[in-house]
Amino acid sequence: MKPASDGADPAANEATAPKKLFIKSFGCQMNVYDATRMADVLAPEGYQETAQPEEADLIVLNTCHIRERAAEKVFSELGKLRQLKQERAGLGQETRIAVAGCVAQAEGAEILRKQRAVDLVVGPQNYHRLPDLVRQSFNAPVVDTDFPVEDKFDHLTAPSEAKIRERGVAAFLTVQEGCDKFCTFCVVPYTRGAEVSRPVARIVAEAEVLARAGVREITLLGQNVDAYHGLGEDGENWTLAQLLRRLARIEGVARLRFTTSHPNDMTDDLIEAFADLPALMPFLHLPVQSGSDAILQAMNRRHSAEDYVRLIEKIRKARPDLALSSDFIVGFPGETEADVQATLDLIAEVGFASTFSFKYSPRPGTPGAELADQVDEAVKTERLYRLQALVEAQRQAFNAAMVGRVTPVLFEKLGRHAGQVAGKSPYLQPVQVEGGAELIGREAPVEIVRCGSNSLFGRLAAPETVGAA
Ligand code: 5AD
Ligand code: SF4
Repeated sequence: MKPASDGADPAANEATAPKKLFIKSFGCQMNVYDATRMADVLAPEGYQETAQPEEADLIVLNTCHIRERAAEKVFSELGKLRQLKQERAGLGQETRIAVAGCVAQAEGAEILRKQRAVDLVVGPQNYHRLPDLVRQSFNAPVVDTDFPVEDKFDHLTAPSEAKIRERGVAAFLTVQEGCDKFCTFCVVPYTRGAEVSRPVARIVAEAEVLARAGVREITLLGQNVDAYHGLGEDGENWTLAQLLRRLARIEGVARLRFTTSHPNDMTDDLIEAFADLPALMPFLHLPVQSGSDAILQAMNRRHSAEDYVRLIEKIRKARPDLALSSDFIVGFPGETEADVQATLDLIAEVGFASTFSFKYSPRPGTPGAELADQVDEAVKTERLYRLQALVEAQRQAFNAAMVGRVTPVLFEKLGRHAGQVAGKSPYLQPVQVEGGAELIGREAPVEIVRCGSNSLFGRLAAPETVGAA
């Protein structure tokens, strides 16, 4: 190859040359959304996303700190990346390794000490500074875990229309971050900070961009999303229900969802939205954690099991076709066999379409970790096993009950087999039907004919039959 002897500046060429970016996300949907925003902010710097870490010039681990196991995974992953960095260096290729997300926020500079291959540690509030931080990291390792005064959302780059289309017809949109609830098991108030709601106008603008690029379903995200109280279009603070009603008016937005909620913030106007806002899907993730009042109190959840059950009755009255999902923790300090039974009783009474359940993991800095009566690991395992057997039976019964029904399906992508197209029911169940790519982005009624272990199978039905049993 001819050397660049014609006056061109090789350094400038290098700055604009396309570079590859690999992002791996752990944990919640908030991290999935953040990963897209990190890719967006790095795109103008010439970083193009790749699914292959081996060819990446910049690798970002977007981490989760919620349970010990999640945090540990990061360090085993970093060990592998260190080796990859060395191998690439042997080929004359430089690799930056960045740790983002909640482990970054919680451990900060400690990460650099534990793993020297890391070049950059960036907390969730600082993603808008990524281009600068990456540049700085070429001189020396960088740590940025401040809670800055400026709102990162005001500085993040909007994705291109092509990028949105590539990401599909269902999108996440973060409307609220942080949490002021301080449940005694949870690190979120420490890693994500105090509750902050984005202004309605910003959210509407982002949703409009998504809708114009073909997004049909938007899931509003927040650690405590039903506590949303952002600045509204009339200068007043708006509730989540007001925000949902506004978003439902955007052309093209067919489906709205929100997650994750706290029972105490399920206000009457939000319950009403379930009754009269057809775009709001009849599926609610409402973590209860435990069915025992003693444990709920020790967890600082500030409601009783009875409060939860009554609340669900009220929401179901507003939206009879509502299905529920929840989070459970077993083995919180002091949990007795009677407490476990109370949780199983609550599950039996409420009935859940899907659930997430965890063994309690003591997190440094949280009050729960300081409690004396920690539960034995083997006991936690056995309790989790029992709980999961019950919720799995409920999940399967819920899915099986779909057979013979006609349900609207939003088609998202081609199916696993040729001639199939895949979408989601209102209850987030994957549904496969015979059909072509022209269905993608459309919502159509589907008669469910068979139920597999994780997917439903159906055929397109006539539009007037939706809801038929
Ligand atoms: N141990 C186990 N599970 C936890 N969760 C949060 N913190 C912990 C912990 N320390 C679970 C809760 C929460 C979900 C996101 O993770 O159930 O709702
Ligand atoms: Fe954590 Fe949710 Fe409790 Fe907030 S409400 S402290 S995010 S479990």
